[in-house]
Amino acid sequence: MKKEISRKFCVAPMMGYTTPYARKLYRILSKNSFLFSEMIATKSLIYSKNRNNIIDNDLNNPVALQVGGSEIDELKKSSQIAINYNYDEINLNVGCPSKAVQKGSFGACLMQEKELVRNCIEAMQSDKIEATLKCRLGLGKNLNYEFFEEFIDEISKSGINIIYVHARNAILSGISPQANRMIPPLNYEYVKKIKIKYPQIKFILNGGIDHLDKAKFLLNEYDGIMVGRLIKNNPFILKDVDKKIFGEKNKSIDETIINNYFEYIKPKIGFESIFRLLSPLLSIFFSVPHSKIYKAKINDYMKDQKIGLIEDLLIKLINEKKLT
Ligand SMILES: Cc1cc2nc3c(=O)[nH]c(=O)nc-3n(C[C@H](O)[C@H](O)[C@H](O)COP(=O)(O)O)c2cc1C
Repeated sequence: MKKEISRKFCVAPMMGYTTPYARKLYRILSKNSFLFSEMIATKSLIYSKNRNNIIDNDLNNPVALQVGGSEIDELKKSSQIAINYNYDEINLNVGCPSKAVQKGSFGACLMQEKELVRNCIEAMQSDKIEATLKCRLGLGKNLNYEFFEEFIDEISKSGINIIYVHARNAILSGISPQANRMIPPLNYEYVKKIKIKYPQIKFILNGGIDHLDKAKFLLNEYDGIMVGRLIKNNPFILKDVDKKIFGEKNKSIDETIINNYFEYIKPKIGFESIFRLLSPLLSIFFSVPHSKIYKAKINDYMKDQKIGLIEDLLIKLINEKKLT
């Protein structure tokens, strides 16, 4: 049986950022946000010896495992792995424009192969977790609603319940993945229009949501929203999500956030890079004035793996700067 889960506020999959460690911090900061893993190629998921480190899900639910792939057998196996690791959802990436991903025949280039994408979703489906899709509006420089509609027409035949739309095209050559998140224009109207045609499918809007107030406003019209860079740049914004979006009590940044996080990462020291373990937390410095001395000290402690001292220093920072 699938669980009923809110996807009102989702934190987007981001390679290099939405690691198991970052997700732990996100979950400490927000109980209700729906989280995503980084995109993991199905081959790595199935064959990597390092699988536990890549997809560990220390009960940070609700959370989706995002995969990149287009081989039916691999997608079936990936779905079973997502179930075994207690994920709530498996999500297929049909939005990444990078050259490497195109070479592997997955990501945004699959928008040209709608029947294959439908088959992929069908292969991922089970009665235990949702099989969902994250896509763009289309490909190339020109927006074309018919193309988007025909793509969704085909995918909808799989019986899919949830589609995340990064509401801009992907341009497959000539610009970088980073530029692909800025140059192609956003068009939220296409998502609004397709929602009317398919009221049984939840469409989650993604792209350019750069403030919690904007997220809240958009929730009047969309089934859910997904934010990426806003959280990447400052995960501590998540401490306001349960209050602003879900109407719960205010949460301040306090020592327990730091303590809980360190409790999780301490046993992993020596098995994982200290930077990967600490980087989600280090954005606590975002917009904190005069924090240079702290940053320098933390750098030194990181070199020597002095984890206890880093924890003490971050707690001192919170108390001294009265971060709430
Ligand atoms: C550093 C970075 C890595 C990303 N990696 C992924 C990924 O692994 N899978 C994916 O579907 N999208 C990925 N994206 C795209 C985001 O999920 C999201 O669609 C995009 O950033 C637009 O949302 P935003 O305007 O709120 O940032 C990535 C974005 C960034 C900034």
